[in-house]
Amino acid sequence: MSSPQPTILVTGGAGYIGSHGVLALEAAGYPVVILDTLEYGHRELVEQHLQAQLIVGSTTDRALLDEIFQAHNIGAVMHFAAYIAVGESVQKPAEYYHNNVVGTLTLLEAMLAADVKRLVFSSTCAIYGPPKTVPIPEDHPQNPISPYATSKLMVEHMLRDFDAAYGLKAVAFRYFNAAGADPQGRLGEDHHPETHLIPLVLLTALGKRQSIAIFGTDYDTPDGTCIRDYVHVSDLASAHVKGVDYLLAGGDSTFINLGNGNGFSVREVIDTARRMTGREIPAVECDRRPGDPPSLVGSSDRARDLLGWEPAYPDLDSIIAHAWRWHRERHGG
Ligand SMILES: NC(=O)c1ccc[n+]([C@@H]2O[C@H](COP(=O)([O-])OP(=O)(O)OC[C@H]3O[C@@H](n4cnc5c(N)ncnc54)[C@H](O)[C@@H]3O)[C@@H](O)[C@H]2O)c1
Repeated sequence: MSSPQPTILVTGGAGYIGSHGVLALEAAGYPVVILDTLEYGHRELVEQHLQAQLIVGSTTDRALLDEIFQAHNIGAVMHFAAYIAVGESVQKPAEYYHNNVVGTLTLLEAMLAADVKRLVFSSTCAIYGPPKTVPIPEDHPQNPISPYATSKLMVEHMLRDFDAAYGLKAVAFRYFNAAGADPQGRLGEDHHPETHLIPLVLLTALGKRQSIAIFGTDYDTPDGTCIRDYVHVSDLASAHVKGVDYLLAGGDSTFINLGNGNGFSVREVIDTARRMTGREIPAVECDRRPGDPPSLVGSSDRARDLLGWEPAYPDLDSIIAHAWRWHRERHGG
């Protein structure tokens, strides 16, 4: 008889990407325990669609972490928990460094105390800063320009040092723009406040917002608007399961871009949403926002070569169709 799969602790598992990660882990046969403050997570989605036990609490709570590691046979940790709003991080750096850096340090210390030495970490393409080459490879220079991005790079540095000193093995996934929703409509994106383009466009299609702002129409791109790399959230989730499998099989620490390899412009996103929803989506052209690079697209070669990862939904139509189904069911309309 094969040995049962070890339990995976998923921090932030009631949030957008984390909940899809839990769904994919459960489909792969892993038992899951979620730790989430529910500050931004959704209890009802966990209860309706996931088997996992939900523990409400913070990665900054060392006593709670020790209890969790004592009570469960945790084989690895998927660490999604963080504050994620770039603009807010500029206003509230103390909160971001505390939650994202101190919270992660507390988690890593608890892992070492429990002798759990496998971690998959949610990093971000924002650690690269304004790109010097596109598509962006993993060895691109790092120049984060917000406290949010800096907090993620600080964690990557901690992970490097914890491997060297304590043998803690980690895969840091640097996501580009997470988008889309579970193709079966069980889970999706519901951030408060929402800052991401595709949900904002779909909320406009639903009449929940009056218009969508296009920030900058004079960039050096084919249609003048910014190009971003949208990666389907279920593809992110499948990469995370591969990351856990890789670490449990003895894989070494690494950092890996997770993007589509394809960029889509703001206008392409809006036009695709108009076509897929059949709704009017009023757009307002505005000035550029400071700090927005014209194009951010990642090279996914390492994810393919090392993990055998292949996005199942690389096309914008699928990403928007799945997100649209979710938004209609979630918000009505
Ligand atoms: N959404 C994106 O496009 C994107 C891109 C790059 C990286 N990321 C990273 O992916 C991760 C997940 O992002 P998301 O979009 O799902 O955000 P989200 O806000 O939906 O999920 C984060 C979850 O973590 C919880 N949380 C926050 N701090 C916590 C703490 N200290 N302890 C326990 N729970 C805590 C929140 O309640 C929330 O449920 C984050 O680390 C984020 O930085 C996201």
